[in-house]
Amino acid sequence: MVKTIKKIAIMTSGGDAPGMNPFIRSTVRHALEKGLEVLGIMEGYRGLIEDRFIAMNYDSVCNIVHLGGTILKTSRSPEFMTEEGRKKAAENLKNRNVDALICCGGNGSYAGLKAFANPTTGVWNGLVIGTPGTIDNDIEGTDYTIGFDTAVNTAIKAIDKLRDTGDSHSRHFIVEVMGRHSGNIARAVGIASGATYVITPEEKTDIQKIVCALRKRGHDIVVVTEGNELGGAEKIAQILEQRHKEMQSSSEFRACVLGHIQRGGSPSAKDRIIAHKMALKAIDSLLEGKNLKATAYKADEIVLSDL
Ligand code: F6P
Repeated sequence: MVKTIKKIAIMTSGGDAPGMNPFIRSTVRHALEKGLEVLGIMEGYRGLIEDRFIAMNYDSVCNIVHLGGTILKTSRSPEFMTEEGRKKAAENLKNRNVDALICCGGNGSYAGLKAFANPTTGVWNGLVIGTPGTIDNDIEGTDYTIGFDTAVNTAIKAIDKLRDTGDSHSRHFIVEVMGRHSGNIARAVGIASGATYVITPEEKTDIQKIVCALRKRGHDIVVVTEGNELGGAEKIAQILEQRHKEMQSSSEFRACVLGHIQRGGSPSAKDRIIAHKMALKAIDSLLEGKNLKATAYKADEIVLSDL
């Protein structure tokens, strides 16, 4: 029998991603349309443990569709990784009669949901559903995570600017992008910005190949993922400059770490549209009684995957 739900809570968790606000907006409004009561949880799992809920209505999500970040704020919560933390969180949801929890976040956030609502070892027996929100595009079961497109475009715009100065001074730029253990951002950015080389954590790097690919006194772009085996952009720039010197090349190298800039900014059309569609899917799936699932993007459609 399908469990009837009356009240849901929504939160964003982990690293913020452009598109989280459009996701919150559409989730709240679609839920209200379906006659559900909606609570927002501030600062993700941390706020859930600290009982920081806010009532959400049509106006609470007014004028946010174009904003980066998340109006519900976010956090990484070590306390939720403990059973004690999860028990406190479950108590708070029970006291407020919440039937279902929606969390937009990355891999860590999904792991949290699974531990929380696991039918045998979990501490909460309400419904949970995840939505992929991370710039890294690295979640199993979905081809796309909200925030990736905006982050990639932000990095491309920055590299276009670096090209101007690189060209003027005949300098190579080593540009570090985010992605943690995934080279997805680097690969997309590398292709779209015409990089000469892309260094990712997944592939072994043949430094000599890169040395040879870079022109003497040229202005090439090399995109590197943070967390690759060689080190950060600064270190790679030093290695390459040294090797070029040994080849009697007077090439100059500069490093640029794009960092958290990639996490901000107004969400792209793609991120807004996918966020909207995933919000509808999340609410409709909960109304059908689905549990421990995640909204996912597959072959241009929004589907459900296992968490
Ligand atoms: O997961 C998103 C991400 O931006 C990664 O690309 C990056 O490694 C990490 O978060 C940075 O985390 P924090 O904002 O906690 O420093």
